[in-house]
Amino acid sequence: MKLLIKNATLVLKDGEKKSDILLEDGKISKIAKSIDGAGIKGCKIIDGTNKHVLAGLIDMHVHLREPGFEGKEDIESGSKAAVAGGFTQICCMPNTNPVCDNAVVVTYIKHRESEVNLCKINPIGSITKGEQGEALSEIGKMKEAGAVAISDDGKSVMNSNIMRLAMEYASGFDLKCLCHCEDIDLVDGGVVNEGYNSTLCGLKGSLRAAEDIMIARDISLAESLNVPVHICHVSTYSGVEIIRSAKARGVKVTAETCPHYFTLTDDIITSFDTNTKVNPPVREEKDRLAIIEGIKDGTIDCIVTDHAPHSQKDKEVEYNLAAFGMSGLETSFALSYTNLVKNGQITLTQLANIMSANPAKVLNLQGGEIKEGAAADLTVVDLNEKWIIDGQKFLSKGKNTPFNGYEVYGKVVCTIVDGQIKYGG
Ligand code: DOR
Ligand code: ZN
Ligand code: ZN
Repeated sequence: MKLLIKNATLVLKDGEKKSDILLEDGKISKIAKSIDGAGIKGCKIIDGTNKHVLAGLIDMHVHLREPGFEGKEDIESGSKAAVAGGFTQICCMPNTNPVCDNAVVVTYIKHRESEVNLCKINPIGSITKGEQGEALSEIGKMKEAGAVAISDDGKSVMNSNIMRLAMEYASGFDLKCLCHCEDIDLVDGGVVNEGYNSTLCGLKGSLRAAEDIMIARDISLAESLNVPVHICHVSTYSGVEIIRSAKARGVKVTAETCPHYFTLTDDIITSFDTNTKVNPPVREEKDRLAIIEGIKDGTIDCIVTDHAPHSQKDKEVEYNLAAFGMSGLETSFALSYTNLVKNGQITLTQLANIMSANPAKVLNLQGGEIKEGAAADLTVVDLNEKWIIDGQKFLSKGKNTPFNGYEVYGKVVCTIVDGQIKYGG
């Protein structure tokens, strides 16, 4: 299949450029000021006037729920949501049932990826068997089967010696540990950020320290062992500072945050809407501002969704009992564009790097750049289109968003994977 996008603005690594772009045999074959489509046999032409073309977005932190929790999401519905959100490539967390702690589950996910045939899916294997925090999973075998990282996401590995062994093994296999940082004893059943609003609402809070202690521990292990580490979903101002100072002294640490942490504060919990319940919790204005500073100065490398779809029955219960998590794939680009680029905090080029090039770099994945010869993974967006978020319209089975009614800019109009249109057109 041949595809030609005409008159679009390409968002390249170092800036924007008005150009035509030709895709042939799954690759970007030509980037030039003007390419004549009429002369190319069997070529479909997309009018890119007033559209921007980004390197396909990559979300390195998604919960697809299959196998085991298909009532919440499955690999097909999650992939549909991903391409609707502009993602050409996603990485899925292992907290499924069974847990992705062996090569068989990794192989199963890769098989489903090719059956569904929408976006690229990279499985993340668990650090410990069953995410129980006790015995290491089959890290080498999972890598052989296609795992791109290891994580016990949803939980911290509380035993520091197990975490040390995991980091050493992982680095031996050239894989990264993605750390969900939460001291579970200190969280002690907390469901929201501990502060004024938790007191006001009578909801049990969780201190920033519960997150920061584990960020500091995992950085400390990585520094002592001289291995790389990646910190998941940073939510605290103090966590940003710990990572910033570690980077300054040369520790091989990378970090991610999610749109909810730079968009929301815990004022929203006063609604008692269980769609605001997420782990780690949304925090306060000084945290939100520090996360944005961290994105601006490169302390935070990537924006991920932590897409955590849940069914209605998991959320339509009292706040304390509701499941943690937000359905994020279909709102991530617009929330990021609206709250970071449209208001002048960062450039579109920076956003493209944070949502595509950087995750590719962190996990050593192919993609993340628009250049001749690269895989034709592209996201076409209309930045001027204003729309209102409505979770009921999500393709994901998880309708659980705290952003219903939010007015955002930036609509994904077409998602192209290996030169094939997988969404829009
Ligand atoms: O809010 C969350 N939901 N945080 C996690 O760490 C796990 C995730 C889930 O799996 O639902
Ligand atoms: Zn997590
Ligand atoms: Zn997660």
